[in-house]
Amino acid sequence: MAGRFIKILLRQGSSLQKIHCRQYSGKVRTVTLIPGDGIGPEISAAVQKIFAAAGAPIDWEPVDVTPVIGPDGKSTIPQKVFDSMARTQVGLKGPLATPVGKGHRSLNLALRKAFNLYANVRPCRSIEGYKTPYDDVDLVTIRENTEGEYSGIEHVIVDGVVQSIKLITEQASRRVAEFAFQYAKSNNRSTVTAVHKANIMRMSDGLFLRCCREVADKNRDIKFREMYLDTVCLNMVQDPTKFDVLVMPNLYGDILSDLAAGLIGGLGVTPSGNIGEDGAIFESVHGTAPDIAGHDKANPTALLLSAVMMLRYMDLGEYAKRIETACLDVIREGQLRTADLGGNAKCSDFTDAICKKVESS
Ligand code: NAI
Repeated sequence: MAGRFIKILLRQGSSLQKIHCRQYSGKVRTVTLIPGDGIGPEISAAVQKIFAAAGAPIDWEPVDVTPVIGPDGKSTIPQKVFDSMARTQVGLKGPLATPVGKGHRSLNLALRKAFNLYANVRPCRSIEGYKTPYDDVDLVTIRENTEGEYSGIEHVIVDGVVQSIKLITEQASRRVAEFAFQYAKSNNRSTVTAVHKANIMRMSDGLFLRCCREVADKNRDIKFREMYLDTVCLNMVQDPTKFDVLVMPNLYGDILSDLAAGLIGGLGVTPSGNIGEDGAIFESVHGTAPDIAGHDKANPTALLLSAVMMLRYMDLGEYAKRIETACLDVIREGQLRTADLGGNAKCSDFTDAICKKVESS
């Protein structure tokens, strides 16, 4: 029950996703909803509408993450977000605006750290009927989410010289490597590729790689490869079908997962999950899209497919399958696509079309 991880097979039509899941009973479950900024409230409302049409047993607990000033004078997440997540242990999150510089802490980073969401999982799979340079992309990036270049340890040494520390620990590296192999096994994947630059960053990436090798050694039923980040980038844009599951430190994962998203149609269609030991937050990977916010033009697919991942995590695979199928069918049919996918449909029309399909399925 709550607090106990189980492995569960969730074969969902076109996509097969099996991650560490919590076991839930059939009763209605509360999920923390962070609508976010910009287009966040529009796409969150779309997801809520589609979930209602599907009769998904989810009770949303919306929380506002507008920063408050903490005792140290820096902006921080309001306490009620922590309280809600501690209760529900599952969250769905829209994009949050992060001002650059000005000593402002990234709230995304703060959420990941606060809830120890150590593995960022992004499945990238070609969408049938939506033409991109490659038709058969099916890869998953797994990014270490808590340390590396994003540890937030930066300081001025002397005027004009700034140092940023890349923190790599054995514990976090092993934990994410174990997650990657477990994910591969649970999802009938054959290969895990460790992405690194241990030739340059011998100690930090060297440690990450060593942990991956040790975990690979204990999981010999999964093929293990090691590749330099630059080689992966080159090969991925030449032929992404060569890749299966990839595991990597934080910064590499941030960049490579966006590159992979570009191969299947962009950030508007790519879901993600941040998995931790005591909970998970699922989120769309795009930003707040201030240029279209409030114009009913946003594509809610990324948040919806993130919510689908969430349903599977909660062992509600049947609802996940119905919603995912309806969404992908609407995109495949091509009449109602949002502008980012080359169409001119409104977010609300696209949402209604999915609702209709879900209701009739
Ligand atoms: P962005 O992803 O918001 O926008 C880039 C382009 O993609 C824009 O043309 C936008 O209209 C389009 N776009 C993004 N999502 C879309 C969707 N669902 N449907 C249709 N079109 C979509 O990236 P940008 O402009 O660099 O960032 C804006 C703000 O978002 C910044 O404050 C940034 O810090 C924040 N951000 C937050 C993220 C998060 O919360 N996970 C991730 C990335 C950026």
